Order: sequence, then structure tokens, then C-alpha cells
Amino acid sequence: MTDTVTSQYNAYPYPARDPKDEAKRLVIGSPSHPVEIDHHLFSGSRDWSQPFRALVAGGGTGDALVQMAQILTSAKRPYEITYLDLSTSAREIAEARIAARGLSGVRFVTGDLTQAAEHGPFDYIDCCGVLHHLPDPGVGLSALAAALAPRGGLGFMVYAPYGRSGVYPLQEAFSSLAPDASPEERLKLAKAVLPTLPEHHPFRRNGLVGDHMQSDAGLYDLLLHQQDMPFTIDAWVHALEEAGFAHPSMITPGLYDLSMITPVPEDMDQVMAMAVAEKLRGVIRKHVGYATLKGQERAPAGPLTLSEVPHISGNAKDMAKAISKGATLKFNAQGVGFNLKVPQSAAAIIGRVDGRRSLSEIATSAKLDPIAFQRVWDKLHDPLTKMGVLTYSRIFRA
Ligand SMILES: C[S@@+](CC[C@H](N)C(=O)[O-])C[C@H]1O[C@@H](n2cnc3c(N)ncnc32)[C@H](O)[C@@H]1O
Repeated sequence: MTDTVTSQYNAYPYPARDPKDEAKRLVIGSPSHPVEIDHHLFSGSRDWSQPFRALVAGGGTGDALVQMAQILTSAKRPYEITYLDLSTSAREIAEARIAARGLSGVRFVTGDLTQAAEHGPFDYIDCCGVLHHLPDPGVGLSALAAALAPRGGLGFMVYAPYGRSGVYPLQEAFSSLAPDASPEERLKLAKAVLPTLPEHHPFRRNGLVGDHMQSDAGLYDLLLHQQDMPFTIDAWVHALEEAGFAHPSMITPGLYDLSMITPVPEDMDQVMAMAVAEKLRGVIRKHVGYATLKGQERAPAGPLTLSEVPHISGNAKDMAKAISKGATLKFNAQGVGFNLKVPQSAAAIIGRVDGRRSLSEIATSAKLDPIAFQRVWDKLHDPLTKMGVLTYSRIFRA
């Protein structure tokens, strides 16, 4: 089956990317924004003067690789990144993107991530959209665990079943129809059949999956994959544990927080509560988060000391404007809406969050004493981190 996966990604490297576009934009995403890595794996206080040794396991056409290399280069932080993938055509595109940006510090390897330890050890491993395509994801996870340096961590994305409703029956049908046809013939078949799906086919009703409309590579990856095993959140947490990882830190914990939906029965454990929340949300298409090895857990960053440097995703100034007008803040994660009403006094604080000032500098600049500041910040920290909007990192401090 690994051969089938390799031929797919050689024929349709994923995601479809044109190195020329590097001149126009930087693709930003999760996992693997360095700020997010710091927040979830290093309590927001990694010493970025130390070299950051990273592996991108199943790097594809290079989104995570380019994001990390570009942000670390711009921040003048030392790094060495190893890109590892089975597909040579995906690697060519990733190489061309790195060259287009004139970035260095990257080693390209064509190979299997089950041999990751041969190239390590690593302080950080990105594995995004890959493990659910392995014949045995557990073997892959254990191999990544073995490639981590002490106190290192993993950033992951794996597919989730309920939010991808309609996808799996189509993958099965196309596999039965033309199991041995070439990737090009299979794509042609799918393009011919898709318009015949009735209006109420679960796939047509699922407005949250759209990869098939972006590119041939997207269509192939979504509907023609021959090795795609999604994880419910409880199955994923157990798989992590089996491989030696601790309980993960999810980028949007609020998606899995059952208490935000309904009271949690007293005797329900944390993983079961997350699993029930996933079923009630119904739209989660992917699980994205970070994990350290068991015994090396660190608390995610929090405002324990005012030397922490907060980051707000999106435009903090616009958010401050909305807060000052008394508006309810609205966020959306994977199709789940979150509303947040914060005191108008928070506007002066949020408007000063720029990823460089520490909490104490923000307090001073807003002319608030530490106690008054802390009172307002305490109301912001929990909800904003639950929605994945607030993180902490000192990476951009001189
Ligand atoms: C869906 S793509 C994801 C690419 C990239 N991580 C991203 O998120 O944009 C999966 C990639 O994993 C690679 N891959 C699959 N199995 C692998 C394995 N055992 N070892 C290394 N790479 C693998 C494929 O060749 C493909 O490029």
C-alpha cells in the first residue's frame, strides 16, 4: 500500500502549489507556526537563541517547511530543518519554494518517516495530514517518538471522521470501481461520476469539505485516496499514548470542551468528554494539536508571570475597536461558532498586543497597575486560548 500512496503523491503532489506564488504570499497554518509551537510545547518561553532542530515528516509540497524556515529566518533565529517525504515530485516543489525565497538551513531527504530516527534527534517534528495514510499509523507515531530529542515535541494533524461525512463511502466506491487503474484514469472516472451524485448525497450536503474544488491533487487526496483512516479524538489520544506521548494540547481546546455545550457528568473522564463533544459538534474534520513525550509534559503557556508575550491571531487592532464599541466578538473554528463578550476596558489592552510587548509592558503602556491589568487579562486568557486565538511566545523579542 505504501507504493500506492507514493504513486499517488508522485502523480499529484499535495497540496497543489506553484513556487512562483512565493513572491506573493506566505502560507500560514497549523500546526507549525513557531509561535504556536512555543505556546503548546515550550510554555511560551523557548530560548530561541538556541538552534531549533525540526523534522517535517511527510512534508509534501512544503507548506510547514516554508512557513517555519521563513518565519525563523525573518526573526533571525538559528534553525536546521529536515524535510522527509516518499514523493520525489512533492520534494521538487518544496525545494523550488525554498529556493524561490532564498532560504537556507534545510536538508531534503526522500524516504519513509518510519526511519525518522536515522535523521534526528529533533526538538520538533511536524506531521500534518500524513499518519492517517500509513498502513499502521501506530508504527509511524512510535518512529516519530523515537526521533525526538529530550523535551522535544510533535505537532500533528490527523483527519477526523464525522466532519468528513460523505467522503469515506465515495473513497470506498472509487477503490472498488478501479482499484488498479492509473492515478490519471481514476481521476477521470471520479470527475465523470461526481456530477451524478444526488443533491442529498451526504458528500454534496457537506459544505465544509472543498478540497475537490481546489485542484486535481485536492480531489484525488479527498476522494480517491486508497489509504485513509480517520481518527475519533479518543482513538487518537489512545494512539498517542500507545506511542509514548502525553495527553495532547489541542490548538482549539474549545472544540472538545464538553462543558461549553452541556454539563459534564461527574463520572465521565476527560477523554470520553472530548469524544462526546466531538460527536455533538459533528463538524470536526481534523484534529490539530501538539504533544510531548509522557513524563516531559509542560503546562501550556499562561499568564503566570507578566513577562509573557501574548499574540492574537487576526487583527488585534480591529478586535480592540469592536470591543470598545461593546460588540460581541465572534470566532469560528472548523465551522463551530464561538461568541465572546468582554468588558470594554479590555480594548486598550487588546489593541496593544503586537507579539513583541510583554504583558507588563502592555499594562504600563495602557496605564494600568499590575492588579487592575491582571483582573481584565484573567477574563481574556481562558476564553481566547480555548478558541485558539491567544498564544504566548517570546520569539520576536530581541
Ligand atoms: C496529504 S500530504 C500532506 C503534506 C504536508 N504535510 C501538508 O500538510 O501539506 C501527505 C504526504 O505524506 C507523504 N507520505 C505518506 N506516507 C509517508 C511515509 N511513510 N513516509 C514519508 N512520507 C510519507 C506523502 O508522499 C505526501 O507528500
